[in-house]
Amino acid sequence: MSLPEWAPDGVDVTVPNAARVYDYGLGGYHNFAVDREFAEQLIAAWPGILQVAHTNRAFLGRAVRWLAGQGIRQFLDIGSGIPTRGNVHEVVQAIDPAATVVYVDVDDVAVSHGRAILAGNRNATAIGGDLRRVEGILADERVRALIDFDQPVAVLLVAVLHFITDEDDPARLVRTLSAACAPGSFVALSHFTAVDDLGSEHEQVTKLYDRTPTSVRTRDAGQVAAMLDGLELVEPGIVPVTSWHPDPAEPAEHEQRSVLGAVARRP
Ligand SMILES: C[S@@+](CC[C@H](N)C(=O)[O-])C[C@H]1O[C@@H](n2cnc3c(N)ncnc32)[C@H](O)[C@@H]1O
Repeated sequence: MSLPEWAPDGVDVTVPNAARVYDYGLGGYHNFAVDREFAEQLIAAWPGILQVAHTNRAFLGRAVRWLAGQGIRQFLDIGSGIPTRGNVHEVVQAIDPAATVVYVDVDDVAVSHGRAILAGNRNATAIGGDLRRVEGILADERVRALIDFDQPVAVLLVAVLHFITDEDDPARLVRTLSAACAPGSFVALSHFTAVDDLGSEHEQVTKLYDRTPTSVRTRDAGQVAAMLDGLELVEPGIVPVTSWHPDPAEPAEHEQRSVLGAVARRP
């Protein structure tokens, strides 16, 4: 099978992958037949999953604009996905061209496409990295070249922590990241959560994801709060993403109860 010119060498086109499935759900084209077929199975199991992708992405945009409004000019976006409309660097560099952004993802397609669209952008880069090996990300010289950890940083963990198993201890990973950042830094996250009346849809989606390299699990607001222990939650706290600082200029979104969002500040 011949691969499109944007596909990195060695990419496995036989197994669906979370980054490319999400890209398809958002209307992107950096995905393969196996991802599209898998996404259609997800949609058949739970038609509402498309709205999940869109509302999560909208939360990311609002959180980043809010953080920029707090004066944050450095962003470490882990599990950044395949760059699509409303990328973090587009949002923050429109506010301040000197703002720096490092995208980190475990998926090669996300990284290579990120590099391509950032060519010529001296203040943003995309690197391969695994959140489960967070120390490696923090020590990476390409991260250190753009992010000064003595100044406030926003660490973005949007729709990625539900791919981390309990054994990999997501709370420790968040703690390690926030401890590496200066006081006044922020963590922004979103996380898939269980909703009683969507139990069977969620179960089917979770089972389907078991066929990918990154299985998925739900966590409740208490478990998300435990990940942000020691940080100060920004109002309104841990809420459905659609309830986190909704933009009065945008049409009201249907409440998205399946994804929790939060932003917290390192005191
Ligand atoms: C649902 S997408 C979210 C993309 C983006 N953060 C957003 O919210 O629009 C999840 C991303 O997390 C990445 N991912 C999953 N496990 C990861 C890990 N252990 N380390 C880094 N990235 C990971 C996937 O490759 C995928 O691109």
